[in-house]
Amino acid sequence: MSLKEQLNANIPQHVGIIMDGNGRWAKKQGFMRVFGHENGSSTVTKIVDAAVDVGVKYLTLYAFSTENWNRPKYEIEALMTLLVKSLKRELPKLHKEKVRLHAIGNIESLPKKPYKELKSVMDQTKDYDTMTLTLALSYGAREELVKSVQQIADKIKKDLISPHLITEDVIKEHLYTHDMPDVDLLIRTSGEQRISNFLLWQIAYAELYFTPVLWPDFTSEHLYKAFLDYQQRERRFGKTSEQLQDSPI
Ligand code: FPP
Repeated sequence: MSLKEQLNANIPQHVGIIMDGNGRWAKKQGFMRVFGHENGSSTVTKIVDAAVDVGVKYLTLYAFSTENWNRPKYEIEALMTLLVKSLKRELPKLHKEKVRLHAIGNIESLPKKPYKELKSVMDQTKDYDTMTLTLALSYGAREELVKSVQQIADKIKKDLISPHLITEDVIKEHLYTHDMPDVDLLIRTSGEQRISNFLLWQIAYAELYFTPVLWPDFTSEHLYKAFLDYQQRERRFGKTSEQLQDSPI
């Protein structure tokens, strides 16, 4: 039986992926890092298909962090060119499968061309609901939280909200991800076991899955293996196993 056939109905609703290891993959074969990113972008295509295939509703990919702006200029330019190329290539499939493209992060800081392409694809797919594919671009979770605090402080100043009425929901409403559920499963490839400033608020109760596979080598089989692992875990959200058996969440 294939890994996909072994999955039960408990598919993680929101999956986050830290796509890591492109550079090492390329270097291992004596190529430039950019070659790894090119192959990494083909992996994105396959993983989006695989996620749609089993009914994932939200897939959020860490494509470019705020810290990635510190990489060599040629690598940043190559990543931005690749983003434009990938968006153009994926659009027909997004239409066909009714996948909504969304982005989180300081996307206004992207160069003009990728920004315009991103906006255009987001606009053309905004009404689709098979799955929301979110690209985290120029994204940092601490920056997201700082922005949220600034917006709330501004509302307090304007008497629109009082400090004792600030709840977790109010904070959530001011995050980039305000219209998405929390992350159920966070996957990181390449053997690193870090969160690297990705969705800090949203992964509070996520199951974490680390695999040594480098992102360009990551396949639908690896994704389904992560889902099977997720399905074997018991998510207690602070409760006891006995409580869960009495009334499952
Ligand atoms: C991490 O590998 C990957 C990135 C910083 C960029 C992710 C980009 C892609 C997967 C390709 C383009 C994506 C889209 C959506 C068009 P790394 O360079 O940090 O690898 P290393 O840790 O081995 O150096």
